[in-house]
Amino acid sequence: MNLAFTHDISPQRVVFAAGAISRTAEEADRLNFSHALIVATPGSGARLGQKIVDLLGARAAGLHAQAVVHVPKAVAAVGLEAARAKSADGLVAVGGGAAIGLAKAIARDTGLKILAVPTTYSGSEATPIFGLTDGERKITGRDAKVLPRTIIYDPDLTLKLPLAVSAASGMNAIAHCVEAFWVDGRTPVTLALASEAMRRFAKNLPAVIASGADAAARAECLVGAWLAGTVLAAGTALHHKLAHVLGGLGLPHAETHAIILPHVMRFNLAAAPEAKARLSEALGGNDPANAIAAMLEKFPIPQRLREIGFDRGKIDFVAGEIAAASIKMPRPASADDVRALLAKAY
Ligand SMILES: NC(=O)c1ccc[n+]([C@@H]2O[C@H](COP(=O)([O-])OP(=O)(O)OC[C@H]3O[C@@H](n4cnc5c(N)ncnc54)[C@H](O)[C@@H]3O)[C@@H](O)[C@H]2O)c1
Repeated sequence: MNLAFTHDISPQRVVFAAGAISRTAEEADRLNFSHALIVATPGSGARLGQKIVDLLGARAAGLHAQAVVHVPKAVAAVGLEAARAKSADGLVAVGGGAAIGLAKAIARDTGLKILAVPTTYSGSEATPIFGLTDGERKITGRDAKVLPRTIIYDPDLTLKLPLAVSAASGMNAIAHCVEAFWVDGRTPVTLALASEAMRRFAKNLPAVIASGADAAARAECLVGAWLAGTVLAAGTALHHKLAHVLGGLGLPHAETHAIILPHVMRFNLAAAPEAKARLSEALGGNDPANAIAAMLEKFPIPQRLREIGFDRGKIDFVAGEIAAASIKMPRPASADDVRALLAKAY
């Protein structure tokens, strides 16, 4: 194969340190925010959101703690209305992909800049990709406006991240890396970042699940999350398309990624020797799909699609959607291939 690629990943300012949340006001100033809306999920997310409101003082326009996973269109509309009603001149998203996703939906319509303070490993803060759900369909797209300008990573904020969310969002990040090894848009940079992120997760995600208060392992996973999110911009293929269609059916995002990943790996790695070699190097051994399956087995999260409410009657719908996407890399996936894969994951 001829070596040819286009590398097109926009830079972001990244501030990484234990306690870095205390620098939120300084970073908001750099973005010229004088009246920023803080976006979070309810519950523990809202408590963190309030902390940011306090840190921003007069620069805060208010807290909007109504983010919901997969950003239903109605939730995006309420968020947009809140930003307009409060005349926000910037967005601070604090929390996981749900909070960051809502901020992206608002940014897409308003052009407001985002300062992201991520607290999970799903990596959305490092991508120009937005997602919305409309009924049973998930719509995703790419828009440079939604890429957060600044990311503040404070590993201290992740010390109490529930182990199930840690495991699921970590597997989501691992899925970004795995897919990065076989997408058409891979470049020497994205391959190197994906390898580096995989190495960090292979060692440190199991350590986090063994002890959630392991600050060093938490910090390593957060670095992995950043790198994994960054490589997602190189493109996606079967794995993310499948997770996307299943997400549209209402299945939980990160858990779905985790469950299907070893199955997609078994299917695709048979046709992707370079990806297999890189993954083997990062994970050790020579069967990366089994290595990921073994890691998943030890995690306190659902292991099968049937455990997360997947309706088997939807297999044909999902297979049809994937076949219609005509994915070619690293190998074509027919409707029959997808049916077989889903049956195994079920
Ligand atoms: N656009 C992208 O590039 C991209 C990439 C990955 C994921 N996503 C999106 O992100 C969403 C999933 O995000 P996620 O997996 O990060 O989870 P999430 O944002 O849904 O959060 C999961 C749960 O963890 C809680 N939580 C988050 N941080 C916490 C903390 N520090 N302490 C205690 N509780 C905390 C949240 O309140 C929530 O209840 C989906 O909507 C998915 O589509 C988007």
